[in-house]
Amino acid sequence: MSNEFMGKTAIISGAAGGIGLALAEALGKQGMNIVMGDIDIQALAVSRQLLLDKGVNVLACELDVTDFKQWQDVVARAKDTYGKIHMVINNAGVGGIPGKIEDTEHETWRWVMDVNVMGVLYGAQACVPAIKEHGEGGWIVNVASMAGMLGMPYAGAYCASKAAVVSMTESWAVELKSHNIHVSALCPAFVKTRIHESHRNRQPKYAVAQENRQDKKKLQAGANAATIAVESGIPAGVLAQRVLEALKSKQTYIYTHPNYRKVTSGRSQAIDNAFVDAQDSPVVGHLINEDIVTF
Ligand SMILES: NC(=O)c1ccc[n+]([C@@H]2O[C@H](COP(=O)([O-])OP(=O)(O)OC[C@H]3O[C@@H](n4cnc5c(N)ncnc54)[C@H](O)[C@@H]3O)[C@@H](O)[C@H]2O)c1
Repeated sequence: MSNEFMGKTAIISGAAGGIGLALAEALGKQGMNIVMGDIDIQALAVSRQLLLDKGVNVLACELDVTDFKQWQDVVARAKDTYGKIHMVINNAGVGGIPGKIEDTEHETWRWVMDVNVMGVLYGAQACVPAIKEHGEGGWIVNVASMAGMLGMPYAGAYCASKAAVVSMTESWAVELKSHNIHVSALCPAFVKTRIHESHRNRQPKYAVAQENRQDKKKLQAGANAATIAVESGIPAGVLAQRVLEALKSKQTYIYTHPNYRKVTSGRSQAIDNAFVDAQDSPVVGHLINEDIVTF
């Protein structure tokens, strides 16, 4: 049966496992050609075979999303193989290491920001020209998180990175509308994957100097809490079905956990209350009647 994805091509970063693999399978079953990129080449080979066995057209490419040159190589290989690119799913991401502000190493912040933010930027920069050039439009799906909708204690780096992804999505959605490129931010709460074991693919360039290492006991406590939370999550296959549904209805924010609505409502309410506070201010209250400047 024909559908809007059939015969088109999607590049998915971090597709060797978890959410990326589930999305690859779901979109592959819709008839898309799937270009899987991942830093973990062993897992990538296994997952490639799994999709081939299910009759999906697959190209597997080694990809560290923090390296723009590797992104460009993936796009070139995808175009050589399938001709056109219609979709990029910027999914590769790492959970970082939970910890207090003063305990979290700079190397950890750089790792999280490079993978979760720069990786998304590089993916868009490499793919957008290729999607624009055929004029048929397409999709960018940036995998953010509920953590991008509200800050959480002991997870500053992860939350900041995901808030950046939400913000990039909102900016690009407007910028790319006239090219018929639909941009969305996927914002799940917990999904049963290996995100709590992200350190398994931490690149040597983000290694922590011995003298800066966090206390092992504190690290273990954070890791245990993260494991319990992630293991309570929904299956990645359920999330993938929800993404298909939301892409068809062209949502900008793709939510997978309606029970978390109170989180975003609480934040909106706090923002609104702060505006009322500013409006009542003798210092700036008069600005309420001024025009808003935009560009
Ligand atoms: N699992 C959750 O509860 C949850 C919730 C909200 C958002 N997310 C987001 O979903 C996305 C996917 O994570 P997941 O839960 O499937 O975790 P996962 O660890 O199971 O899968 C992540 C994949 O990304 C790959 N990867 C890691 N670093 C990479 C790099 N530098 N370059 C390329 N690939 C890299 C890993 O090898 C792995 O295959 C992430 O962006 C994560 O932040 C996950």
